Amino acid sequence: MQELATLSINVGLLGLGTVGVGTAQILLDPVGRHPLIGQLRLARVGVRDLHKSRPIDIPADCLTTNLEAIVSDPQISVVVEVLGGLEPARSLILKAIAHGKHVVTANKAVVARYGDEIFTAANQAGVYVMLEAAVGGGIPIVQPLKQALGVNRIQALTGIVNGTTNYILTRMQREAGDFSSILADAQRLGYAEADPAADVDGLDAADKLAILASLAFGGRIKLADVYSEGIRQVTAADMAYAQRLGFVIKLLAIARRRSDTQPVLEELELRVHPTLVPNSHPLAAVNDVYNAILVEGEPLGQVMFFGPGAGAGPTASAVVSDLIAVAATLITEPSGAPNPLLSCSHQHYCKVSPMADIYSRFYLRLIAKDRPGVIGKLGMCFGNHGVSLESIVQTGMEEDCAEIVIVSHEVREANFQTALDDIRSFTEIQRVASVLRVL
Ligand code: NAP
Ligand code: HSE
Repeated sequence: MQELATLSINVGLLGLGTVGVGTAQILLDPVGRHPLIGQLRLARVGVRDLHKSRPIDIPADCLTTNLEAIVSDPQISVVVEVLGGLEPARSLILKAIAHGKHVVTANKAVVARYGDEIFTAANQAGVYVMLEAAVGGGIPIVQPLKQALGVNRIQALTGIVNGTTNYILTRMQREAGDFSSILADAQRLGYAEADPAADVDGLDAADKLAILASLAFGGRIKLADVYSEGIRQVTAADMAYAQRLGFVIKLLAIARRRSDTQPVLEELELRVHPTLVPNSHPLAAVNDVYNAILVEGEPLGQVMFFGPGAGAGPTASAVVSDLIAVAATLITEPSGAPNPLLSCSHQHYCKVSPMADIYSRFYLRLIAKDRPGVIGKLGMCFGNHGVSLESIVQTGMEEDCAEIVIVSHEVREANFQTALDDIRSFTEIQRVASVLRVL
């Protein structure tokens, strides 16, 4: 076998925070890793504050606050963007592309919102934009979807893709604790950010789902088409009822073809919401900050990717895996012919079903006055809207109110929500305490 050309590839790193430090540590310590890492040279590192103390020694002449100079530096072949946020990350990625540089990013927020603009620019410039670290942290899922799994006709992808919410839900389940006190604890321990909205409101998971679905189903996704609901409304009571019924509650990101019988993509379901997951399901055992993505395809069947969804080392592992994929292509394809296994060629937008047309099972918890005929009235109302019930149980009592827990069979979302609107108007109903979907 021929030796790989010993070309040195200059890398410009934008950001030296959690992921930037992890990436620099791998690049500066290549021994025992893939030999291509030894050919990657950390040339410039862009930060906001030159005088900040850092857990890594970077030569002073390497560090700069002039990020524009990095993305336009003719000596740099690949730019790694690990700044976070939308701007200046988006503009710097576009400028790097305009200067003919390949880009590696961990920034799902930018890719989910500006993927169209970024990939169109990259295709025109003949460069790659790589994003393994943007979804699932250290879990290899992007490249498998582009390559090995690309053999398959993907039918569904179901993931736990947000570590913060998985940590909160796992602790709520174990300790019967409330969301807000466990969130405060997660913030104190550094698992959740000071502003936890992107995580707990399901927005981070929606960004990641848009990226995964685009790769799995070969079309672009408008982020606005991804339905997202967070975990703020999940209570300790729901956790306990779920457990009694044989479920755990997880924030799931679900992408699914509407019809398994259609070989060519017609319509997708794209949704993020807290979900009752049967104890026997492989995702039910994914706890704490871990992530997992279950992919179902034909002819492969099911395959599940599991691992650390965040953190310096795991995320940097994904970043550097993209760097070596680009390096391999630069070394073996000096002609610049695009590698179809790395580039993103799809241009059409996927058609996404409105949430009203989606079919799922529901879990409903109601607080109702304990009067004769309430259960009958509820059953009648659901029946009138074509909602079939799997179980209806009257449980705890609070003063003269009863707690009623209902699980439906699979039903069209619009039918269930219309029935629920009617139920809200019943004089016996004090409040609708929870509505969750069931896998
Ligand atoms: P971070 O710790 O906040 O680090 C951000 C870095 O970017 C810092 O070094 C900061 O400089 C620099 N920076 C930010 N804005 C800048 C600006 N306008 N000009 C110059 N420098 C700027 O962020 P992170 O956790 O590493 O995350 C980076 C990206 O990776 C994000 O897109 C995130 O979503 C993604 N990601 C993170 C993880 C994770 O586990 N952390 C996992 C997966 C994906 P200073 O150091 O000088 O302040
Ligand atoms: N905030 C994200 C999470 C970090 O909790 O999973 C990784 O993208």
